[in-house]
Amino acid sequence: MTAAQKILVAVAWPYANGSIHVGHVAGTYLPADIFARYHRLKGNDVLMVSGSDAHGTPVTLEAEKRGISPGEVADFYLTEFKDNWDRLGISFDLFTSTSTETHASVSQDLFLTLKNNGYIYEKPMHQPFCLDDNRFLADRYVEGQCPLCSYEKARGDQCDSCGRTLDPQDLINLTCGLCGGSPEIRETIHFFFKLTEFEDLLKQWVFKKPDWKPNVLNFTKGFLEGGLVDRPITRDIEWGVEVPLPGYESKRLYVWFEAVIGYLSASKEWAMLNGDPEAWKHFWTGESESYYFMGKDNIIFHSILWPAMLMGNKNLNLPTNVPANEYLNMEGFKLSTSRNWAVWLPDYLDRYEPDPLRYVIASNLPELSDSDFSWKEYVRSNNDELVATYGNLIHRVLSMTFNYFDGEVPSNESIDTECEELLSKCDKTILMVGQSIEKAQFRKGLSLAMTLASDANKFLEERKPWQSNKTDKGKTAATLWTALSVINCLRVVMEPYLPFSSIKLRRMLGFSDDKTSNWTWNQNDVIPGSSIEKPELLFKKLDDAVIETEDAKLRA
Ligand code: MF3
Ligand code: ZN
Repeated sequence: MTAAQKILVAVAWPYANGSIHVGHVAGTYLPADIFARYHRLKGNDVLMVSGSDAHGTPVTLEAEKRGISPGEVADFYLTEFKDNWDRLGISFDLFTSTSTETHASVSQDLFLTLKNNGYIYEKPMHQPFCLDDNRFLADRYVEGQCPLCSYEKARGDQCDSCGRTLDPQDLINLTCGLCGGSPEIRETIHFFFKLTEFEDLLKQWVFKKPDWKPNVLNFTKGFLEGGLVDRPITRDIEWGVEVPLPGYESKRLYVWFEAVIGYLSASKEWAMLNGDPEAWKHFWTGESESYYFMGKDNIIFHSILWPAMLMGNKNLNLPTNVPANEYLNMEGFKLSTSRNWAVWLPDYLDRYEPDPLRYVIASNLPELSDSDFSWKEYVRSNNDELVATYGNLIHRVLSMTFNYFDGEVPSNESIDTECEELLSKCDKTILMVGQSIEKAQFRKGLSLAMTLASDANKFLEERKPWQSNKTDKGKTAATLWTALSVINCLRVVMEPYLPFSSIKLRRMLGFSDDKTSNWTWNQNDVIPGSSIEKPELLFKKLDDAVIETEDAKLRA
């Protein structure tokens, strides 16, 4: 056996200012989880980390709106996120927060290392300052016209129209987001990260990544072609990680600078919690690999900023791959928190099952271009694919076995070439699904698994065990044994996608619970004479009324 590969699954940190919705699930969390579960089944050592992004204006704005502290907002959502991951089966090894002491000290250490290595310097900046509010206005606290596309309502950090990252002082006709007044521009000293220093190194590094997804590669290369500029990495704010130098008490590290450090600080926290404080190194040095999952608005921070910070820090591994996704829209429109145009995860999980959502989203992931979610499609995909193809196969085969053979796996003595042909497809499927997942082609992996399920259904239609059972017990046994063996293969290849039902299916197939799953399949794993459980329905057909109810709720 080859040694286990160490794999860091680094998952973008959701802002702790609102609930997770299906767009986040599709863009980031589900693909990361499929990837992590697969590698664990393969026997690799996986460390999957993330946490809530507790700082930044999204959180302070929400706190002001609710009249509570940013810390309270962040704590509230941290609890909600963790509960949602459990219920959706997103299997983090550690989901923490950027508000921990570990994160602050790891961020401050990295800041000082980069500074000592000559990659951070001080420079005066000119920032909007509102005299009425007596404060500097950073990021989302100012509005104005985008200098690049002329959109009138661009924010200080970003233009929602052209998508460019901005600095507040770039905006034309600046207004204060708090009082609507016209801020003045004042001088303030900030630290800058010398991103320009890494331009050539980054180009060379990205050049060696031809296997990255084209959406990520093109975006990254385009950004590098446009030329890099040094980025300010401190802000005049109160909520955030403190700058570890005297004289900077009224400033904090910029949220993006410290949030990406979360991958490292969470790995260190995980190691400490596991009683082996040095264990994080296995995932950050040597032959270990790292995969960063996120939506497309985060690409630059993970394919340029964070790699540059790692280069400046020296001796930690750069990302192996950044398989970012595009967006999941709803009925053609971009998901929106303010317009309540989304399906919120806590709400979904209160009323529906996790695996159907995982199925519907995984089969429609925005891997290379935006994709679309609707309740109509949710019901159709659940009923016509998950239930009709996969669920029915399992239920028919287990029920017939239970009824015709007294709940015992029948004999495989009479298997013929037809049976063997189908069984040989299992070997191919498990191999190809694995290769697809390794390449972050999750949709393809799932559709390969579903093709095997369809083939098994065809096999049953042709051999009609419900008829042969009256005339030819040997053939019926061979048919059902073969089908059970195929289902056992499907159980394995579906486990990264549909963990809850795969675990139930294991039990129903009569495997003792202490046998851990792994990414292997052998037709003889299904042993004639062993007993199976009375089957229960794994997936339920949804009534069309669901569409109406949910659509009405959405549009309310
Ligand atoms: N909070 C950011 C967002 O939701 C993502 C941060 S990813 C990190 O867009 F790596 F920077 F933490
Ligand atoms: Zn103001």
